[in-house]
Amino acid sequence: MRELMADASSLPQQRQTPPQALLERLKDFGQEDAFALWDELSPEERLLLVNDIESLDLSRIDRVIRCSFRSHGQHDSGLPMAAIEPVPESWYRQWRSGPLGTERGWWKMGWKAISDGKLAVLLLSGGQGTRLGGSDPKGCFNIGLPSGKSLFQLQAERILCVQSLAAEAINDGSAGSVQIHWYIMTSPFTDEATRKFFESHKFFGLEPDQVTFFQQGTIPCVSKDGRFIMETPYKVAKAPDGNGGVYTALKSSKLLENMSMRGIKYVDCYGVDNALVRVADPTFLGYFIDKGVVTAAKVVRKAYPQEKVGVFVRRGKGGPLTVVEYSELDPSMASAINQGTGRLRYCWSNVCLHMFTLDFLNHVANGLEKDSIYHLAEKKIPSIHGHTMGFKLEQFIFDAFPYAPSTALFEVLREEEFAPVKNINGSTFDTPESAKLLILRLHSRWVVAAGGFLTHSVPLYATGVEVSPLCSYAGENLEAICRGRTFHAPCEITF
Ligand code: UTP
Repeated sequence: MRELMADASSLPQQRQTPPQALLERLKDFGQEDAFALWDELSPEERLLLVNDIESLDLSRIDRVIRCSFRSHGQHDSGLPMAAIEPVPESWYRQWRSGPLGTERGWWKMGWKAISDGKLAVLLLSGGQGTRLGGSDPKGCFNIGLPSGKSLFQLQAERILCVQSLAAEAINDGSAGSVQIHWYIMTSPFTDEATRKFFESHKFFGLEPDQVTFFQQGTIPCVSKDGRFIMETPYKVAKAPDGNGGVYTALKSSKLLENMSMRGIKYVDCYGVDNALVRVADPTFLGYFIDKGVVTAAKVVRKAYPQEKVGVFVRRGKGGPLTVVEYSELDPSMASAINQGTGRLRYCWSNVCLHMFTLDFLNHVANGLEKDSIYHLAEKKIPSIHGHTMGFKLEQFIFDAFPYAPSTALFEVLREEEFAPVKNINGSTFDTPESAKLLILRLHSRWVVAAGGFLTHSVPLYATGVEVSPLCSYAGENLEAICRGRTFHAPCEITF
């Protein structure tokens, strides 16, 4: 609580006018409308409003609003189109393109780092998930798999699986010998429900002390003229400050020191809403270590020129890597072909799967904290006038990439690693149903490759089997369970 903040005893119950000093401050920033309904408020509501405004760092917020509006309408990345270059060939690794054995080398390097306790997993789970609807955080969502598992459970079980594979890889199969710490970023909108969900599910078999929750910040939502939107007559509408808020949140929660104390060197970071995410992927980690870079991203190939995904580009000749949103890439650039490779010139789609060194996180947390240009996301905001269109101010996780002296991209197959859960069932794409089917199809292929058979009473394109992450991380170790056996889809295959 800041010094100025009022409590019930310091605010006269019968106050007729807003506190003058606070009103003057709001006027300095053109936000005095926040007190427009003062006369209609009860004494308790007036107190809530004063405390709400006092809790805001008004001068910083004003700077962010002004800088963000000024740069909005230019390209979000602040780049003129002429300055955008394709990612150089040497900066990415195409899917399984390396010499035979490289993959195995990375896999080994990854296991070694994991079993030495050098990897942490960082989950971005502070978003409001408005497109998906529902009141629970996205991670609690059951996408309709035969097991009924939530996204959080799928991810927790993948961590458990990696832990036991790592213990085997170092010839120490004993349970608990390898532990991966899981940092989970929530926001005031998802924090309590997320913690309760983990507690009521006994942390899905993980040790409670290997999970750390922390909250990201929020920032007021604003109208088209940059004024605060009021959610109620005594509360400013606020939203989480974007998944890029993670850098500042890690710093302010002192978790970068916490990671360092644990001996963590590498951080695997991802969004909660990818049902196929390979959490703590040892191959990706090995590639990252082998390349000696400070950041890396898994990418998938853009499906078609107009696909609505952000793509990695290079900021000018000799410049760093960054992401441009689909809306920023003009149609001729979006459909340009690289004559040498036959691929789109800008084809590496960002799917929010990143690896960072801890040193880089420390570096970027200090830099981005001072950055005042946020992305303006036009969304429906709950307000005293019902849901109204306005702007959420957000930093994005990839805003950090231009700060990186070295970056590498790692191509993965969409059907193996990317099943986004963004929109409610019935929408045309990225729904729980489409994510469920992607899992069932992939896992059915694993089971058949391991010598199993499938029967099904609905067409196979609409069903399949689910393999518990406790049995297999990426299709390995399934022969003993599947060879010669027949499974009737849909069902879950577990030990
Ligand atoms: P999205 O951009 O899809 O946003 O987040 P969202 O909030 O989940 O959903 P909508 O736009 O309201 O429908 C991509 C990832 O970034 C996380 C989300 O939880 C998700 O994992 N995120 C997003 C945060 O952690 N914090 C934020 O402020 C925003």
